[in-house]
This record gives sequence, C-alpha cells and structure tokens, in this order.
Amino acid sequence: MIRTEGNMDKVLVAGATGRTGQWVVRRLQHYGIPVRALVGSAEKASVFEGDVEIAVGRIGDRAALDRAVKGCLTVISALGSSSLSGESSPSEVDRDGVIRLADAAAEAGVRHFGLVSSLAVTRWYHPLNLFGGVLLMKAAAEKHVRELFSAEGRSYTIVRPGGLKDGEPLGHRMVVDQGDHMWNGWANRSDVAELLVISLWLDKARNKTFEVVSGEEAPQESLDYCYDGLT
Ligand SMILES: NC(=O)c1ccc[n+]([C@@H]2O[C@H](COP(=O)([O-])OP(=O)(O)OC[C@H]3O[C@@H](n4cnc5c(N)ncnc54)[C@H](OP(=O)(O)O)[C@@H]3O)[C@@H](O)[C@H]2O)c1
Repeated sequence: MIRTEGNMDKVLVAGATGRTGQWVVRRLQHYGIPVRALVGSAEKASVFEGDVEIAVGRIGDRAALDRAVKGCLTVISALGSSSLSGESSPSEVDRDGVIRLADAAAEAGVRHFGLVSSLAVTRWYHPLNLFGGVLLMKAAAEKHVRELFSAEGRSYTIVRPGGLKDGEPLGHRMVVDQGDHMWNGWANRSDVAELLVISLWLDKARNKTFEVVSGEEAPQESLDYCYDGLT
C-alpha cells in the first residue's frame, strides 16, 4: 500500500535540488518516508540533510530516468525550467522532461505521480508565456500526466500554486480552487511540498488538479482540508 500514513515505500523526487524540491524532500523526511532524489549532478547532492538516496541524471536522459524510478511507487516532480533555450528550457523541462519522467514512471510500475504546475496554466494569453511558452508547456505535461496516471491502479495529484515564496510550512490557511479562475496570489514552496506529500496517503487527493494560494496567517495542524470538496 502506498497510501497509508507512515508507509515506507521510497519516493523519487525530481527537481529535488530546487527550492520546492528541497522542501518536498524535507517534508517526506518529516513523515519518515524514504527519499530518492534525482539530481542533475552528484555535487548538488550536498544540499540535502539526513538520509537521502541519490540518483544522478538529467531530465533529457531516458535511461537515467528509468534507473531513477526503479523500485519507487511514487514520483513527485518539482522540476522547473530556468533558461529560454537549451536543456533547461520550458519545452525541454516543463513539457518534454515531465512527460519523459511520467512515461518512465508508468512503465516502471509507479502508482502515484505528484506534479508542481502553476496558476494560470490554461491561459495562453498570460504574459508568463513570453518565457518560452512556459505555461503552455506545463499544460501539455499536466494533460499527459492526467491521461497516463488516471489509468486503473494509478493516480495523480497536480498542484497549481500562485507565485512561490520561501517561508516555513503550515503557517497560513490555504485557499484552493479548480478551473484556473484565480488571477493572483502566492504560496510558500513548503506548503506546496506538504500538499504533494500528504497526497500519498489521502484518498481524496487522488486524481485531483487544483490551484492553491496562501490565505490568512494562522498556524495549521494539517493541510488535509485543502482536498475537501475537490472534484
Ligand atoms: N517561481 C514561481 O513563482 C512559480 C509559481 C508557480 C509555479 N512555479 C513552478 O514551480 C516549480 C518549482 O519552482 P522552484 O522555484 O522551486 O524551481 P527551482 O528552484 O528553479 O528548481 C527547479 C529544479 O528543476 C531542475 N532542473 C531544471 N532543468 C533540469 C534538467 N534539464 N534536468 C534535471 N533537472 C533540471 C533543477 O535542477 P538543476 O539546478 O540541477 O538544474 C532544480 O532542481 C517549477 O515548475 C516552477 O515553474 C513557480
């Protein structure tokens, strides 16, 4: 069973060295879940504390992805492009990289795929698309993940956060919506990570795509409620 709190199946985190990815690793560790981090180069593994298994590979390298996903039942992707062209561009990372990772994961028997996407991902006219069509690329990846991981025996959770910040988790009431109607707002990367980690064991998080931003500042015991009422 992968969706039982405290389960010990290893989770592969792609984009693990990134700012959200590092929070995903930390929140998995918080719940005692073993982590394998996919890192672009071995030197970058020094960002992690505690017990983290390392898989080295770039997102364009299918063979490296096949090795990285082997033996994991869950993959969480916090990948994100960082340049207009080349191997870290939106088309290479946000679309083709995520699609390649999802394909490798499905073929290797991964049962749950968590994805960090973005608010406004369905809006072709959003100015962010001036950066290599980044939202269009994310939308294409989302579609592929939904198609692949809604199959029998698989599931997905896709989180579309507002502008990302770097605060501690569980310090704000979170506001969620579906249908990409929100125009602005921000969320802490740590809360985005928390939402994806708890999706491992919450049945109500299965096969959900939703937007999320931070609301009022208030300590939260859990973000479990964010999945109430999602369709
Ligand atoms: N910034 C915002 O306000 C905002 C808002 C909504 C959604 N988002 C999305 O949220 C996600 C996480 O954002 P973030 O700010 O946490 O990202 P980030 O810090 O830029 O991290 C991105 C990660 O992707 C990896 N990556 C990039 N190209 C790669 C490649 N070719 N092969 C392997 N790994 C590669 C990076 O690894 P290397 O360093 O090794 O390349 C890094 O680990 C992204 O998808 C972003 O677009 C961002």
